[in-house]
Amino acid sequence: MKKHLLIAACMGLLSWGAVAESLDAPAPDGRRLGGTIAQELQAEEMPKVENKDLKRERNYPEQPPTIPHKIDGYRVDTNSNKCLSCHSRSTAAKSQAPMISITHYMDRDGQPLATVSPRRYFCEQCHVPQHETPAAIPNTFKNIDQVLEGGASQP
Ligand code: HEC
Ligand code: HEC
Repeated sequence: MKKHLLIAACMGLLSWGAVAESLDAPAPDGRRLGGTIAQELQAEEMPKVENKDLKRERNYPEQPPTIPHKIDGYRVDTNSNKCLSCHSRSTAAKSQAPMISITHYMDRDGQPLATVSPRRYFCEQCHVPQHETPAAIPNTFKNIDQVLEGGASQP
């Protein structure tokens, strides 16, 4: 009896394999080209983080600046915040990192607090490092100066 059940189960699996194969289809050519839906392609190598320590231009006045250094292993949780060990008001002089601006100390009513506001505590919500890689998809983004230039040239 047990043997029969086992054989039936095996046959079931085999026929499911055949169905899965017949249902396979070319994958949508998104950011990773080629392959089929069922096929597992090798992932591309991860690009390196740009680590030049040079501030990048901001595209508009309220843009959170991108991070110009590596942040591997920098922990930010309820117990500790590695970023603040260099960027807070009290540590910036020692680390010579730019101090977080006054907006990071303001509560939602614009009242400055003595310590970093909870809404600005998780830095990577707004600030991100950049990778040494070409843009994944082409885009026509214009920064605010280019937008203003375009506007001025129109009648
Ligand atoms: C060891 C000290 C140190 C730590 C830790 C550190 N930074 Fe920095 N950061 C710097 C220094 C110094 C600069 C100035 C540019 C440079 O030297 O890279 C900088 C620059 C920046 C800038 C650019 C500011 C601008 O005006 O363009 C941002 C944003 C930033 N850091 C965010 C972060 C975040 C977010 C973390 C945590 C994930 C972090 N940093 C952790 C030292 C540090
Ligand atoms: C809710 C979004 C947000 C969060 C969270 C946030 N920032 Fe910012 N940050 C900004 C914006 C927007 C600016 C630019 C305008 C300003 O200064 O408010 C900025 C500016 C900065 C600057 C440049 C300051 C200057 O005077 O040029 C540094 C450095 C920085 N942030 C670091 C941090 C660190 C470290 C944390 C985590 C403790 C953090 N930020 C959390 C949005 C954020």
